[in-house]
Amino acid sequence: MASELVEITHVQEFSAAHRLVSAALSEAENRELYGPCFTDHGHNYVLEVTVRGQLDERTGMVMDLNRLSRLIVERIIERVDHRHLNHDVPFLAGTITTAENVAVAFWRELAAPIAAHGCRLHRVRLRESRMNLVDYFGPPNA
Ligand code: NI
Repeated sequence: MASELVEITHVQEFSAAHRLVSAALSEAENRELYGPCFTDHGHNYVLEVTVRGQLDERTGMVMDLNRLSRLIVERIIERVDHRHLNHDVPFLAGTITTAENVAVAFWRELAAPIAAHGCRLHRVRLRESRMNLVDYFGPPNA
């Protein structure tokens, strides 16, 4: 019997400050484009990481969720929680800290260690507020 393809998701929350500012725009253009987000402010983010893999008949699992949790905490949460995303997080240096860019940066931090466990990172979902979330499914043709 072929093993089943299953997706598992782990959720973590963190709080962080940021502001939206593009080095390619003037101060007036930044203010116009980003409005209140041009000023320092914070969010209670919710990060959902979905891994896709074969269901291992020996263990009944795709990937040990405790191991996935530890990996997300070590690679992401401990580096962003209660930090300023624009200034305090080396892997975000030089990026405009929109939820889109942050989700892509998180993907780059997580994809290789998840692959090392024989699974494939399927989706990084970052909720910035109750109304706004972004999904990233990785680079095309990856
Ligand atoms: Ni914001």
